[in-house]
Amino acid sequence: MDVRAFTVGPVQENAYLVRSGAGATHALMIDPGEESQRLLDAAGALGVEIEAILITHCHFDHIGAVAPVARAAGAPVYCPEIEVGVLADITKWTMPGFGPFESWQAEHTVKGGERLRLAGMEIEVVFTPGHSPGHVTYAISAAGEDAADSATTGGDRAPVDTSTTVPGRKPASSGAAPVLFSGDVLFQGSVGRADLPGSDWATLERSIGGLMERFERDTAVYPGHMGVTTLGREWDANPFLSELRASAASPAPSHPEGTQHPEGTQHPEGTRRAQGS
Ligand SMILES: [Fe+2]
Repeated sequence: MDVRAFTVGPVQENAYLVRSGAGATHALMIDPGEESQRLLDAAGALGVEIEAILITHCHFDHIGAVAPVARAAGAPVYCPEIEVGVLADITKWTMPGFGPFESWQAEHTVKGGERLRLAGMEIEVVFTPGHSPGHVTYAISAAGEDAADSATTGGDRAPVDTSTTVPGRKPASSGAAPVLFSGDVLFQGSVGRADLPGSDWATLERSIGGLMERFERDTAVYPGHMGVTTLGREWDANPFLSELRASAASPAPSHPEGTQHPEGTQHPEGTRRAQGS
């Protein structure tokens, strides 16, 4: 796969242009948050058609450029089902001092559990709420002959980490393994904010735990802010996952699978350094 990262707007959000391989003529745009012309120019420079726009969640910094990119590219928009109202009335949900942004009516909705095939890639939609109520993570892998291409990251501006090799990633022979576009769920050394309206720490923690259980340690994580990382790297060292690690090691998990954490469960104060809005 060929992943191009573009850090856009005052909130420094990561938009991604993703295609199945370096020679592919169709691509996906993920979370075009701002700077629509820059994103469209990048696609034009690569000679690729944006086949679809995927949204992880509808905080304004992730969707501010959806309308102009969708219109210019003629690309359908895939939006979390319970957040389509935000995209359709974006001004109402934009913090003062940002924008203005244009609303858009999503052509498709996702809620997790879907398997899509777009731009020559397989996309599994995973429901990962907690930072926002409808948040999804896209697990994307190249399909068919392009699957042998190695995963690289680049773009005209990589998000913090400018290396071209994903840390911990398997060699090219594993090119068909999915990579995650996780929006504001999990960051390099941090996690998404859980203090916003509609967010919940226990739910976010459970979503992260679900990703850890489901995907391999060396799965690359392309987040909505900051640099690329891997699940294994965050499992080993992310300070916000200490409770998750402890519960995984415990013979009697404090939060049995399928049940909610008790109301009022809080991440320890004083250690929170959540990112992203
Ligand atoms: Fe967010």
